Amino acid sequence: MSQPHPFTGIVLAAGKGTRMKSEKPKALMPLLGLPLTMHGLSALKSAGSEPPIVVVGHGAEEVKRALGEQFHYALQTEQLGTGHACLQAIPFIAPHLKTVIVAAGDSPLVTDEAFLSMLQLHLESGAAATVAIAVLENPTGYGRILRDSTGQVTGIVEEKDATPEQKQIREVCTSFYVFEVAALRDALPRLSNQNAQGEYYLTDVIAMLAQEGAPVVAWVAPDPNLLMGVNNRWELAQAGMILRERLLKQFALQGVTVVDPLTTYVDAAVQIGVDTVIEPNTHLRGNTVVGSDCVLGPDLLVQDSRIGDHCQLLRSHIIQAEIESHVRVGPFANLRPGTCLKQGAQIGDFVEIKNAVIGEGAKAMHLSYIGDAEVGARANIGAGTITCNYDGARKHRTVIGSGAFVGSNSTLIAPLTIGDGAYVAAGSAINQPVPPDALAIARSFQTVKEGWAAKRREQSSKKEG
Ligand code: UD1
Ligand code: MG
Repeated sequence: MSQPHPFTGIVLAAGKGTRMKSEKPKALMPLLGLPLTMHGLSALKSAGSEPPIVVVGHGAEEVKRALGEQFHYALQTEQLGTGHACLQAIPFIAPHLKTVIVAAGDSPLVTDEAFLSMLQLHLESGAAATVAIAVLENPTGYGRILRDSTGQVTGIVEEKDATPEQKQIREVCTSFYVFEVAALRDALPRLSNQNAQGEYYLTDVIAMLAQEGAPVVAWVAPDPNLLMGVNNRWELAQAGMILRERLLKQFALQGVTVVDPLTTYVDAAVQIGVDTVIEPNTHLRGNTVVGSDCVLGPDLLVQDSRIGDHCQLLRSHIIQAEIESHVRVGPFANLRPGTCLKQGAQIGDFVEIKNAVIGEGAKAMHLSYIGDAEVGARANIGAGTITCNYDGARKHRTVIGSGAFVGSNSTLIAPLTIGDGAYVAAGSAINQPVPPDALAIARSFQTVKEGWAAKRREQSSKKEG
């Protein structure tokens, strides 16, 4: 079998993205939990690209930090156009590479299959340049593809430079190309900026090569959305809808039940095991990993958390938490960062947990705050129990032993230790250690006055009489 043809990618991401009307660089606009530009870069990598070269400029440091060290970065200090941006990347192409894919950093719907298909056409046809085009119902804003009477691509005209007749053309430039490195390296320095925007257009390389007789071919996108560019926030939202549907379909085909795709929001990096059921209005964000055979939702938000197998999470907020298998949460639980629920734990309604480990099979079923705490296996936290972890200046820990029973409405004033198997009587305010197997009661005792109520009723009826 022949070796796959080695190639790298250049991704143009130096633009400000003026049309986003944002303080953030366009490359970092969030889309399904990832920076906009990361989507195309991931597709390039899974197509087998050598580490791609990202051209950065506007907010360069921020963009580099967000995308990480897995890429090469070329700096375009002034944004003089897509051709000028591409030129900055040329010195970073390894000498052994003959072929390069160029992609716009604002087209997040591209797939690894699309990249491979462009590359295949390019190599099979022996082209110097392959331009990826799409046929759009509404081509407004895109560069239009010009062809001669034989159908050969002769160039690309930008919307702002196009004549009214050219604006009728529905074949558009998508800003995805495959080039022979030698042809691109030779053409880029010769671009001119004599056009409506005074920019060096990468699109003009196509006309230049075609005029010089170099073979230029067109790869037509099978789906017009595949290479859609995102220039404003409405296009960002539309790309999000398409990407979301694509992702949910993938999960469904892999064995995840998605009850209502219209109200299910799953970020691109999320992983979900088979037989898990996602009920409506569920949001799974960031680097969340969910095991198999879970029921999630309805009405659930999980962010950057790990969930084991066979869990039931209902109508709750779960942020940066770790949940083992066979755990039940909700409705209306608020699990904040640092929550760890061990196997078989149960957390019920109006329970807030922060920076706390809840042991195997332990329960806190109603109306509690458990913060900066460790709760042992099988312990029972009664309704209304509060760990008073904050003294106004510092946070303190509460440690509750395994098998301990904390009665309802207990106030546990940290730092505090409650031993294994100990009992805390309901309604206690506890600020001294409770030894293992002891009972602690800290409340005023009840007084019963026999007949008091009857006597009172008698007195008041006499007055009225
Ligand atoms: C570009 C194409 C247009 C095509 C459209 C498809 C050109 C001249 N036009 O237009 O034909 O239909 O994409 O989406 O190429 N960038 C830089 N440095 C710059 C300018 C841009 O890195 O100096 C980057 C941007 O960050 C962006 C990409 O290049 O990721 C495309 O730039 P953008 O301004 O969005 O070009 P379009 O107007 O969309
Ligand atoms: Mg664009």
